Amino acid sequence: MCGIVGYVGKNQAPSILLNGLEKLEYRGYDSAGIAVHDGVNINFLKAKGRLENLKKLYEENPITGTLGIGHTRWATHGAPSDVNAHPHVSDDNIIGVVHNGIIENYMEIKEELLAKGYNFKSETDTETVTYLIDDNYKNGMSFEDAVFSAVDRIEGAYAFGIICRDEPGKLIAVRKGAPLIIGKGEGENFIASDIPAILHHTREVYFLEDNEIAVITENTVDIYNKDRQPVHRDIFHVTWDIEAAEKNGFAHFMLKEIHEQPRIVRETILKRMPEDKNFVDLDDIKLGKEELDNIDRIYIVACGTAYYAGLVGKYLIEKICRIPVVSDVASEFRYKDPILDERTLLIVVSQSGETADTLEALRIAKKHNARVLAIVNAVGSSIAREADDVFYILAGPEIAVASTKAYSAQVAAMYILTAHIALTLGKISEKEFEEIRDEMYQLPSKIEYILQKENEEKRLAAKYKDVHNVFYIGRGLDYMVSQEGSLKLKEIAYLHSEAYAAGELKHGPIAMIDDNSLVIAIATQNDIIEKTISNIKEVRARGAKTIVITMEGNKMINSEVADDIFYIPKTLDILAPVLANIPNQLFAYYVALNLGTDIDKPRNLAKSVTVE
Ligand code: F6R
Repeated sequence: MCGIVGYVGKNQAPSILLNGLEKLEYRGYDSAGIAVHDGVNINFLKAKGRLENLKKLYEENPITGTLGIGHTRWATHGAPSDVNAHPHVSDDNIIGVVHNGIIENYMEIKEELLAKGYNFKSETDTETVTYLIDDNYKNGMSFEDAVFSAVDRIEGAYAFGIICRDEPGKLIAVRKGAPLIIGKGEGENFIASDIPAILHHTREVYFLEDNEIAVITENTVDIYNKDRQPVHRDIFHVTWDIEAAEKNGFAHFMLKEIHEQPRIVRETILKRMPEDKNFVDLDDIKLGKEELDNIDRIYIVACGTAYYAGLVGKYLIEKICRIPVVSDVASEFRYKDPILDERTLLIVVSQSGETADTLEALRIAKKHNARVLAIVNAVGSSIAREADDVFYILAGPEIAVASTKAYSAQVAAMYILTAHIALTLGKISEKEFEEIRDEMYQLPSKIEYILQKENEEKRLAAKYKDVHNVFYIGRGLDYMVSQEGSLKLKEIAYLHSEAYAAGELKHGPIAMIDDNSLVIAIATQNDIIEKTISNIKEVRARGAKTIVITMEGNKMINSEVADDIFYIPKTLDILAPVLANIPNQLFAYYVALNLGTDIDKPRNLAKSVTVE
């Protein structure tokens, strides 16, 4: 949440900062600001609303300078407003700060600063940090010491970019519990919350670790730990291209990312299940027979869409590997004193690798000596760095706030892990493994085939755009897919929708069904499809319109059951989720398009949830 960017060099900072913020807007977009040092003074501009407002303000009131910091905000303390927007700059423009995260003890520090005569203008926690550094500086500390000392005082999760009026060539970056990278250029350096913000300028990146402070000039990057000892950091070379973070002609990032899924699922599967091997190649992930024999209990923990991908994993591991698995949302798991020991495997799933609750779940598990395997997209993210083992999905940067391609790759990762565990523990034969693997190889072209039927979903979205209540129902794996489908519709179309296990409807929710309801039923699981059909008939009898997603060739789903049918290609039942989810993504996208919502940046949301 919130995006930070910073620059020090010979070029004009404002355009670099504004372009960088554009790439970070997915992290928060309720206000934005920049502060730039013109060699004598710090000047700043802040504007409520989208980055466009800040750009307009900048065009009307240009500021210049070769050192600067910028911020795009997702409000935590204080509503979105000009005054609450960052940077927060102290009186006489001595210290300027941009911040991502939350300062937990800001109230107590604020009291002290108020007593010293500081006059707070905003409702933010960040302003406290600005004045704390300012106070240290005015008491004779150097800029660096003023920052070190302030960081010793504050508690919480944060990343900061900080500049000082009296240090026109110096940028300080601080990180604890919120992402921050340093981009190394030639005669210029950058900081940012995420790589796309600086990729136009450099591919050489340092990942700042928690509790580290970097002092950055145009030619130097010095990183210190919290004891103020210098630390060495290797450079990470970014290999992916900026195009991966651009729309490439699609109307929205979400649509582009939906269309990337065949390639991503193919790459994720082929990396771990190469055609020349009849086993899963987990490479350096330590999950062989010995480790698996030492595991009594598995948890799969995540948030939102990643949690729903985890539910598919739980279902498969239990069904095929016969190991009990508990899935939980990270915000619950972290506070329920879960049963964890060295015989526990915690699988955390996270696109960003920075989700605060998921990261904390990981830390709790590690404290109890549990083994942690992270299924992550963002390379070098906090979760990836702290886990014992990392299973990278190969989805590339996901920019749209609503997660699509990461879900498909996470589910593919669940198939791969399940196949690996089952084969290693002898729960499936080599022949069965090959059967699953060969069918997995077909998934990308089957996704492609569904995407070619995009117009069908466009038509359905237009037909049902005025419904007010949408229910997604299914049984078994279809229920897992229903939950993700419902979330997508809520997120981007702001439509009320719920997901129910189809058999649960009659225990209460069916009371809500009337002729204004739309029920989207997922019916791909052959062993229970007749039960699902009965449930669909029950809602139809009460006036609901029904769209049924089922596999081609299924004659049981007909016009008696469904107003509309969307066919996905035939596959093994266990592999259906990754296919059945695609029409739901398209439906949500086109409903949102019809309703005119801001699809890539839905209201109240942010891509990377680094606060709890
Ligand atoms: C939904 C969505 C969120 C995320 C959740 C976890 O479309 O994007 O529900 O899935 O915030 O985020 P990560 O995967 O980054 O941990």
